[in-house]
Amino acid sequence: MSSPFNNSIRTIRITLISCIVVILLISGALILFINPEIITQEIKDDRKGDALDNLWIAPDSLSIPSGELGKQIRYGKELITHTAQYLGPKGSVLQISNGMNCQNCHLYAGTKPFGNNYGSVASLYPKFRARSGSLEGIEKRVNDCFERSLNGMGLDSLSKEMRAMVAYIKWVGKDVPKGKKAIGSGLYDIVYLDRQCDTVKGKSLFQAKCVTCHGANGEGLKRFDGIDYVYPPLWGENSFNNGAGLFCISNFAKYIFANMPQGATYEKPLLNQEESWDIAAYVLSMPRPEKLFVSDWPKIETKPVDHPNGPYADKFSETQHKYGPFKPILESQN
Ligand code: HEC
Ligand code: HEC
Repeated sequence: MSSPFNNSIRTIRITLISCIVVILLISGALILFINPEIITQEIKDDRKGDALDNLWIAPDSLSIPSGELGKQIRYGKELITHTAQYLGPKGSVLQISNGMNCQNCHLYAGTKPFGNNYGSVASLYPKFRARSGSLEGIEKRVNDCFERSLNGMGLDSLSKEMRAMVAYIKWVGKDVPKGKKAIGSGLYDIVYLDRQCDTVKGKSLFQAKCVTCHGANGEGLKRFDGIDYVYPPLWGENSFNNGAGLFCISNFAKYIFANMPQGATYEKPLLNQEESWDIAAYVLSMPRPEKLFVSDWPKIETKPVDHPNGPYADKFSETQHKYGPFKPILESQN
C-alpha cells in the first residue's frame, strides 16, 4: 500500500542513495587523480594474456618502511625527484649539476614502465659495462649520469646524498630476483629504420609536437623560482652533454617513443617509431655541451652501432654511426 507518507520516505531514500553514489564516484575519480600508483595497477590488470603480462610494477611508495632506512630511502626519492633543489646550480646541499632532475629522464622517480625506470638496477648491478671496461656499482652508474646527463660532477660515494639515492634505487628494485631483468624496465625496444634518420623531417615534427613545451630552441622552460624546469631543455648549454646515454640516437628514440609528448605510454604512444627516429635525429643534430671522457671504451670494437663519437673499429663514418642506416653496420659485424 502506498500512502503519501510512504511515497515521501521513498523519495528521500532514493535521493539519499543517489547522493551517496555520486559522492563515491567523485571520490573514486579523485583518488585515481591524486594517486597514480593505482592507475599503474590498473594498467597491469588490463593486460591479462598479453606477452607483457608479467610487467614489473614498482613497489608502492606508501610501503617504504619506517625508521632510519625508510628515512634514507625517502630522502633518496626526494633527491631523484627534485635533484636541482639540492644539487643544481642553486642547490641547497652542493652545486654540482645543470638544473635538471633525475626524474626528467627517469620518469615517476624511476618507476614508470618503459620510462627509463630503475626496475633492474638492484638486480643487475654490480654489472660489467663496456663503456668503462669495468665492473660498475650503482654509485658509479649514478655518477655517470651526474657527469653526463646532468653535465656536472659526481658525488662522493660515502656522502649522505649518494647513500640515500642508492638506498632508494635498491628499494625500487627489491622485488626483482638477483640477476634477472624485469619486463618493462629501462626503455621500450623499437626497430631500426632501413634509411638514415632524417633531421629535416624531424625538425617539422619537432615543431608540431614538441615546441609547445620544450621551446623552439630546445631551451625548455624554467620554473618561476629558477631552480628547476617545468619543461627541461633538449639541447643548448643547460642540456645533457655529448657523453650522455640520450646522445645515442636509439636511446633517445626509444625514450620519446614510449614517453613523449608528455602523456604518452608504451601502450598509447603518441609518435610512431619512424617519427621517433627522425625527431631524435633533429634534436641530436643541435648544439649541446661537449665533454671529453678519455677513458670511455677501452675496446672500441665494443661500441654500440649507434655510438655517435668516434673512433670506430670499422670503416663506417661518424655520420652513419650517429644517424644510420644501422643495418649495414650490424651486418658487417656478423
Ligand atoms: C638527460 C636524461 C637523464 C638524466 C637527467 C639522468 N639520467 Fe640516468 N640514465 C639516462 C639514460 C638514457 C640511461 C640509460 C643509458 C643506457 O642504457 O645506455 C640512464 C641510466 C641510468 C642508470 C642505470 C639504469 C640501468 O638499468 O642500467 C641509473 C642507476 C641512473 N641512470 C641514475 C640516474 C640518476 C641517479 C640521475 C640523477 C642524478 C640520472 N640518472 C639522471 C638518462 C638520464
Ligand atoms: C606537454 C608538454 C610536453 C610535450 C609536448 C613534450 N614534452 Fe618532453 N618533457 C615534458 C616534461 C614535463 C618532461 C620532464 C618529465 C618529468 O620531469 O616528469 C619532459 C622530458 C623530456 C625529455 C627528457 C629530459 C630532457 O630534457 O632531456 C626528452 C628527451 C623529451 N622530453 C623530449 C620530447 C620530445 C622530442 C617531444 C616531442 C615529440 C616532447 N618531449 C614533447 C613535457 C613535454
